[in-house]
Amino acid sequence: MQFINLKAQYERIKDKLDAEMIKTISEGTYIMGKRILDLEARLAEYVGRKYCVTCSNGTDALTMPLMAYGIGEGDAVFVPSFTFFASAEVISLQKATPVFVDVDETYNMDVESLKNAIKAVVAEGKLKPKAIIAVDLFGQPARFDLICEVAKEYNLIVIEDGAQGFGGTLNGKKACSFGDVSTTSFFPAKPLGCYGDGGAIFTDDEELAIKLRSIRVHGSNPKDKYDNVTIGLNARLDTIQTPVLNCKLDIFDDELIKRQWAADLYNEKLKGLVETPVVAENATSSWAQYTIRLDSAEKRAKVMAGMKELGIPTMIYYPTPMHEQTAFKVNPCVNCGCEKSELYSKTVMSLPMHPYLTEEEINEVVEAFKKSL
Ligand SMILES: Cc1ncc(COP(=O)(O)O)c(C=O)c1O
Repeated sequence: MQFINLKAQYERIKDKLDAEMIKTISEGTYIMGKRILDLEARLAEYVGRKYCVTCSNGTDALTMPLMAYGIGEGDAVFVPSFTFFASAEVISLQKATPVFVDVDETYNMDVESLKNAIKAVVAEGKLKPKAIIAVDLFGQPARFDLICEVAKEYNLIVIEDGAQGFGGTLNGKKACSFGDVSTTSFFPAKPLGCYGDGGAIFTDDEELAIKLRSIRVHGSNPKDKYDNVTIGLNARLDTIQTPVLNCKLDIFDDELIKRQWAADLYNEKLKGLVETPVVAENATSSWAQYTIRLDSAEKRAKVMAGMKELGIPTMIYYPTPMHEQTAFKVNPCVNCGCEKSELYSKTVMSLPMHPYLTEEEINEVVEAFKKSL
């Protein structure tokens, strides 16, 4: 069994995708061009934002807004401790300081912990609170309704790390439409993945979109490409990824229905046996991961080993919270007590999740889980 079955998805879109790939190659535009602009318009419309700037990956998608806002040394950026390394790495890369915040039972940023962290930084007076990077972990948007209220009070920039969130919703609004700027990743395993690395940034702020487009190409002047107005990156999305993303977008909403069906079935069959995922009432998840929680690290190790023996792949996202990462131990970051992040890192495990799971396969996963337990 596959943890994520990308081959089944390819079989579904193969005829159209193969033809579109050949067409794209034969057109001879490999960098940028109309196909990128058309894809950006389609993605912006899909999430409900005015502007989309595609880019090289989900990490650069986070780095570029930090650069555009001039976030750097002496600035505090609040980020959950329970996330993928890149969510916090980009802050240190800009020489700003990540301030780790705990998560709640949805695995997303805990708003009370965020408030405490901001207050502590303000009281200490060493760093300037500047921004919040809230993550849509496992596919569910963070509580942006509440996070944006806190941000307003302290005049902070809100960045949505929607690398895993694309396709999720909160209060009827799509992921990648929250805060001042949102980002996503098209890494192949993501809900909307390409065939290589890729990412996108979304905003309603025209000035920011212009800056991001400039940073994407070495800080170039949009009117004169050999006049560089700022320090930037080489962070474009390859044009060859446009047919991949377009063909996958054509079937994306149907895939979301299938992911929800698989999650519902897992929920039903695992009820009472283990902590199943908690999705807030006003939210939907794109089910980038289906993550359950055991009572202890020992039990998790036993269950994962047992399932492996029965041929069922499982993964741990994420085994080490950010504030315990070796790279961040040397970082003078404020630790506001991330108890849940520590507990979840020791006890979570993710089960196979993709739109092409059959009822038989889900039964097989659940039976293997029960036996291993
Ligand atoms: C939450 C989160 N943020 C950022 C990233 C970085 O995306 P990429 O791998 O495309 O650079 C990822 C990718 O795994 C992620 O899961």
